Amino acid sequence: MVSVEKSGTFALGGDSVVRRLGYGAMQLAGPGVFGPPKDPQAAVAILREAVASGVNHLDTSDFYGPHVTNQLIRKALHPYADGLVIVTKVGARRGADGSWQAAFSPKELTEAVHDNLRNLGLDVIDVVNLRSMFGIHGPAEGSIEESLSALAELQRKGLVRHIGLSNVTPAQIEEGRRICEIVCVQNHYNVAHRADDTLIEELARGGIAYVPFFPLGGFTPLQSAGLSDVARRLGVTPMQVALAWLLRRAHNILLIPGTSSIAHLRENLAAAELDLPHDAIIALDEVGTRTNAAA
Ligand SMILES: NC(=O)c1ccc[n+]([C@@H]2O[C@H](COP(=O)([O-])OP(=O)(O)OC[C@H]3O[C@@H](n4cnc5c(N)ncnc54)[C@H](OP(=O)(O)O)[C@@H]3O)[C@@H](O)[C@H]2O)c1
Repeated sequence: MVSVEKSGTFALGGDSVVRRLGYGAMQLAGPGVFGPPKDPQAAVAILREAVASGVNHLDTSDFYGPHVTNQLIRKALHPYADGLVIVTKVGARRGADGSWQAAFSPKELTEAVHDNLRNLGLDVIDVVNLRSMFGIHGPAEGSIEESLSALAELQRKGLVRHIGLSNVTPAQIEEGRRICEIVCVQNHYNVAHRADDTLIEELARGGIAYVPFFPLGGFTPLQSAGLSDVARRLGVTPMQVALAWLLRRAHNILLIPGTSSIAHLRENLAAAELDLPHDAIIALDEVGTRTNAAA
């Protein structure tokens, strides 16, 4: 079985130590992240194999399904092993048609934290990310003060250990850090989508983790000649190269690639062992420069 041990570790909030290669559970729900998967047993097997391979950082949300991925995590892994860190996010809810809607009021956020606790079978959630919904597809400005203060209140009550932010701008992160400790930021980033390059360094200086969502391109997986060339030269797959590049990019980057396939899971976790030579890193840096210049 592959092991993610070589990916190294990072201490979220100084005390929740995770291996840098983790797993994102969003792909375990049904099509469109709505409803149950076709094969719930396969989803359970993926979660168990991830943890058996050393993954101790799982990313989820109660709005995946809704409730579906949290219930699968509970079914597969409860009672949870010591050291397993489950990170969830609040701030959205699903319409009956599967639409993604903002749920950013203190009342909705409190209900969401309780839904996560119940569906995961936990008394305390390790990390809750406040997912900004000012922009659905990317960060947009708007004050997060009222919502984050509500989450900080739940932290004071002992329901939440650490707080993070998702889909946010640098100004929102600054605003957030004045309200409570922020241990991680989860934004869209990968080898071809590099808008947060500067932000990653700033967060590293503050000891804050950066957790890219869509590390493999998300719903339209990455396709790039540069990535494929490097993969061919090294005899590995483009997705492994994309993950290995992220691990090398900065020590505060934590990976949560998602998949509904056990073969892809194994392939992705094996990226922990992949060393990228210097010339490959230079070629991969070019992938982002070219894509971002064209955007
Ligand atoms: N905060 C936010 O707003 C936000 C938004 C999106 C996601 N997230 C989190 O980030 C995690 C990762 O994002 P994601 O799952 O959307 O995107 P991703 O990890 O970038 O990519 C997942 C996609 O790539 C495919 N894939 C995975 N491994 C592959 C491989 N080895 N070869 C070929 N295709 C492969 C998957 O299909 P298969 O299932 O067929 O493998 C799926 O279509 C999610 O699980 C979720 O926890 C957060």
